[in-house]
Amino acid sequence: MLEHGASPPAGDSDPRPPSSGGLATRLMRRKPVERLVAEGGQGEGGTLRRSMGMWQLTMISIGATLGTGIFVVLGEAVPDAGPAVILAFVIAGVTALFSALSYAELAGSIPVSGSSYSYAYATLGELVAWVCGWCLILEYGVSVAAVAVGWGQYLNELLNGVFGVTIPDALSQPPGDGGIFNLPALLVVLLAMVFLLGGAKESARANTIMVVVKIAALLLFCGVAVQGVRSGNYANFFPMGMAGVSAAGATLFFSYIGFDAASTAGEEAKDPQRDLPRAIMLSLVIVTALYCLVAAIAVGAMPWQRFEGSEAALAGIMKAVTGQSWWAVLLAFGAVVAIASVVLTVLYGQTRILFAMSRDGLVPKVFSKVHPKSGAPRANTVLVSLFCGVLAAAVPLGELADATSIGTLFAFALVNIAVIVLRRTRPDMPRSFRTPLSPLFPAIGFLLCVYMMGSLGTVTWMVFGVWMVVGLVFYFGYGLRRSRLATAEK
Ligand code: ALA
Repeated sequence: MLEHGASPPAGDSDPRPPSSGGLATRLMRRKPVERLVAEGGQGEGGTLRRSMGMWQLTMISIGATLGTGIFVVLGEAVPDAGPAVILAFVIAGVTALFSALSYAELAGSIPVSGSSYSYAYATLGELVAWVCGWCLILEYGVSVAAVAVGWGQYLNELLNGVFGVTIPDALSQPPGDGGIFNLPALLVVLLAMVFLLGGAKESARANTIMVVVKIAALLLFCGVAVQGVRSGNYANFFPMGMAGVSAAGATLFFSYIGFDAASTAGEEAKDPQRDLPRAIMLSLVIVTALYCLVAAIAVGAMPWQRFEGSEAALAGIMKAVTGQSWWAVLLAFGAVVAIASVVLTVLYGQTRILFAMSRDGLVPKVFSKVHPKSGAPRANTVLVSLFCGVLAAAVPLGELADATSIGTLFAFALVNIAVIVLRRTRPDMPRSFRTPLSPLFPAIGFLLCVYMMGSLGTVTWMVFGVWMVVGLVFYFGYGLRRSRLATAEK
């Protein structure tokens, strides 16, 4: 057995034979927490740099969370719930909260880049960890592509508002959706790639500026739209009953996805044990408060029935309250910046998760190469960006984008289980943050995730099933044999 932290030279071109022992034993092998932590930062040819403090980590989570959910999905959820959409935001936020507590505990005790993939590796074994990592590609990689597509739509709105021009469908839609190539979607991913190649510190700085802009845009909306609030608009608070509220809550859960992004920065944080739990919880509190405020003002300023079919609800409200149409342009600008920061931070998260998986030998080692000057995994960043960019530009994502919610919920569910397992297997381990009332709270978090997964459609489940089969074929054909844990056991 190797000492903690030591890793054998298992090159891609030189796969070692799998370790002895039955297949079940190999699939269940766990990576010791101490080894996960000791390897922190180490890549091929260099190490990641610890440059981020709590403020920047919080901004990463807010950056990844605050985006299309509040700018677009809110308008779609109001017809389901009426003014009680405020409650739907609270319900979705509480669902996220239980999982966030579990993330905070594990990010504080296993502060590595792999996030839930690494937590699963330490507690539930290699196969489950792989499945989790594969789900994270849905949560991060595929959702970057989906979000980039939404960015193109807002860019068009902005260009239209400012210059009176729009990018033609041929260059702003993928084949199959009436176009040839979605150029804006590719561009925003490439732009994010440029920042990420500069290093985590530079990317965090750019993200912080964008987060400030998007929060300012939403506060501006609140400041202006509050003048149009009429108490009569809240009179019929539950027009669709509680069923409508829970349907809207399931839709709005999307707007909370991303609070876990700080957990992918564990190897680039200055004091991860202290700062990661705080950043995760703080970002969730800020985002929930902002969502509830925006929702309360939006349904107070416009009768809920008028949200049906209105594409840019927030801009429409600003226009109705002030009688001036340039507010719509300002909000479109806010949305363009907001969504660009989601692309940047989520792309960042995907590169770091693959970095951790690569260090473990489960994906090719090119993903854990670190550029000695910038301290960034540059080859990884280019490959991930090209994959996401081409996916966004040339593939009609349709159901694949919907599958991101299942993938995310699956990863969240595993994190809740991981907390319970680690409390039993390693009760003595230092924990900078402890989920209250464990195992009750993680169990509630797990059940809420399973419940939400159950409310997603059959086609989405089928797409998810196919995704999983592809992932398992890759694991049994590649990762199982090349796992560094396998070579360590020899
Ligand atoms: N929560 C992210 C958004 O709303 C995915 O865009």
